[in-house]
Amino acid sequence: MRQTLTELYDARVSAGLLRADPAQAAVLADLESLRAWLEANATRRVGLFAGLFAKPVTPPPGLYLWGGVGRGKSMVMDLFTESVDITAKRRVHFHAFMQSVHKGMHEARKTGTDDPLAPVAQAIIADTRLLAFDEMQITDITDAMVVGRLFEKLLGAGVVIVTTSNRPPKDLYKNGLNRALFLPFIALLETRFTVRELVSPTDYRQHRLTGQQVYFHPAGRVTAQIDAIWTDLTGNAKGEPLALPVNGRSVTVPRFANGVGRASFWDLCARPLGPGDYLAIASAIRVLILEDIPRLSASNYNEAKRFVTLIDTLYEAKVRLICSAADTPERLYLEGTGAFEFERTASRLREMQSADWAS
Ligand SMILES: Nc1ncnc2c1ncn2[C@@H]1O[C@H](COP(=O)(O)OP(=O)(O)O)[C@@H](O)[C@H]1O
Ligand SMILES: [Mg+2]
Repeated sequence: MRQTLTELYDARVSAGLLRADPAQAAVLADLESLRAWLEANATRRVGLFAGLFAKPVTPPPGLYLWGGVGRGKSMVMDLFTESVDITAKRRVHFHAFMQSVHKGMHEARKTGTDDPLAPVAQAIIADTRLLAFDEMQITDITDAMVVGRLFEKLLGAGVVIVTTSNRPPKDLYKNGLNRALFLPFIALLETRFTVRELVSPTDYRQHRLTGQQVYFHPAGRVTAQIDAIWTDLTGNAKGEPLALPVNGRSVTVPRFANGVGRASFWDLCARPLGPGDYLAIASAIRVLILEDIPRLSASNYNEAKRFVTLIDTLYEAKVRLICSAADTPERLYLEGTGAFEFERTASRLREMQSADWAS
């Protein structure tokens, strides 16, 4: 039997998977009507592609769901996306999606087209009726200049868009370069979307980690515990690589899902990465699971130095850190240049373990 979103949500509450939260429940009502519409119009061609004689149907406005971190925006959106009974749906991380758009436009330019966005949009429209974006965030001028036209094309073709974000539309791309050119996109969001703030009092991500052990040693024997944390925070997502642009290059977090990144020490500290890379990572994720931190010494001075920069950056950005290491923070780097400075890093690693850190 088909269950409403509210029923699906209540079932999770009864099963002890979620705590009942009226703010979340309220958003489900908006999403329920969107779901009903999508299912009723699953095969009907809409907008531009309405048949010549069929009356075009205009989809209802999409949902722009914003609010503080850990309020359950992604959870609510995923519950909706999973339950909509149509096949032409896609759930994507906004940033990863925009990267694929740029890549597609780059390919299209080679064919000499004067609108490289058109074939990219067309390919999306061809198999998507519902597009769910997680974590819309505009920091990059290349995204800022493309996203408006892209949304126009998608909405014009009847694609229903839902999105989560940490900011209201008017604060997107705040202080960005050429922001005037971006304002029509804000107007589009404000007029063609239902803009909703998820005003839950609880940061559930923080809540889930409170009292949770987050620093494990010795590494190697603790993989199962780290896996359990990953499962809890991501809802057992497989995760996918997250490539982030840094000055024309890109840095990759090997596994990413639902705001949580997972990498080994070797992925992030044994490669020639620098402060810019760590900054990009810290601003794209909320939790980092960093595995296999080894004992460090003068022989791996470069790795140790990068590790210090990484921890400083995560600390400043208030990213939650979960790690497995060869030893306690104080015993990770006992001798070699910089061992003294490492004391500060060890102290930060301690501080980042405390229950209320970053809350
Ligand atoms: N009502 C709730 N009860 C318990 N856990 C929740 C609830 N809502 C969300 N969570 C969990 O809290 C974490 C953060 O939720 P998420 O949807 O990722 O937040 P946001 O996208 O707003 O940052 C996730 O692990 C999620 O499953
Ligand atoms: Mg989220």
